[in-house]
Amino acid sequence: YKSTFLASELELQRSASPRAPPPPQELLFGKVFTDHMLTVEWSRSGGWGRPQIRPFQELRLHPAASALHYAVELFEGLKAFRGDDDKIRLFRPELNMERMQRSARRVCLPEFDGRELLECIRALVRLEGRWVPRDPRSSLYIRPTFIGTEPTLGVAPPGRALLFVLLCPVGPYFPGGFGPVRLLADPRHVRAWPGGAGHCKLGGNYGPCLELQEEARARGCQQVLWLHGPEQLLTEVGTMNLFVFWERPDGGLELVTPPLDGLILPGVTRQSLLELARQWGEFGVREAPLPMGSVLGALRAGRLREMFGAGTACVVCPVGEILYRDQVRGAGGVRGVWGGPGGPGGYGVWGSEGNFGGPGEVFG
Ligand code: COI
Repeated sequence: YKSTFLASELELQRSASPRAPPPPQELLFGKVFTDHMLTVEWSRSGGWGRPQIRPFQELRLHPAASALHYAVELFEGLKAFRGDDDKIRLFRPELNMERMQRSARRVCLPEFDGRELLECIRALVRLEGRWVPRDPRSSLYIRPTFIGTEPTLGVAPPGRALLFVLLCPVGPYFPGGFGPVRLLADPRHVRAWPGGAGHCKLGGNYGPCLELQEEARARGCQQVLWLHGPEQLLTEVGTMNLFVFWERPDGGLELVTPPLDGLILPGVTRQSLLELARQWGEFGVREAPLPMGSVLGALRAGRLREMFGAGTACVVCPVGEILYRDQVRGAGGVRGVWGGPGGPGGYGVWGSEGNFGGPGEVFG
């Protein structure tokens, strides 16, 4: 039985028909894949097989595979960037390897050595180097995926599994680029709950969010602001972590994001922003619950400077407005830009009295 696969045993089968990567300005998120993929199989009897890089191709799955029926599935998302020096670098991939193992435990997928997977990913990215865009707004998105392939309908830990890694050259996550988004906040829907799996990157956390996301779109919003509990705690934005940058009632400036209490996905971008802001030491930094009442109070008092989502795919996504109880809250038309004047060196965004409690539903 092999308890991990080894990068030194990587097998390579090259594509016979490599394609030309599209120009960066044509890249939409997750639509174009590179010429090769990585796969590794596991079985309870034999353990891990050899990792293989092979031409990008469809999977063959038993129709009873547990990923398809019971969402025995997890994924990761990380990026490779091409620097000004033309070198390709992965952004903090060790953090994704650790999170992947934590997600795997939650759905009883087997352990492996994350350092070995990372070496395999490096080999894949090296092979596909020409797919890493030469463009400051673009990057190569890396999607490790791990699925239960147990061909049995019993709800039980899988006896077979498949780990695979796909690569996509990507531009900005939202077709609109990096502009501010409007959020729908509807306390009747929750993304995660105490004791649940909201802190794991499981496919099962994402599918059930689609219905409300579609409702948000129908109501003129780009994303959902996920609330939780009687205090209507702000938890996440769409598939991103959430940050507010505000003035405390005592006047001090502060960056706040909800704590990792089990409801929140421990984002790598989230962690990186917290670490950077703490290093800067220019304002307070806190992981604390954010009740809707406090956020609306800060907005009313003109203390809410900025609000944004943070994630690997979009990096940082400014929030312009919130549709809550049929009213649009926020500074309509004012840019919500992390990094402009008024924020930590940014544009003053929210918080003008005049815009609060606007004229109800204004989007057709
Ligand atoms: C992220 O990177 O922020 C995500 O979780 C997006 C992914 C689900 C497409």
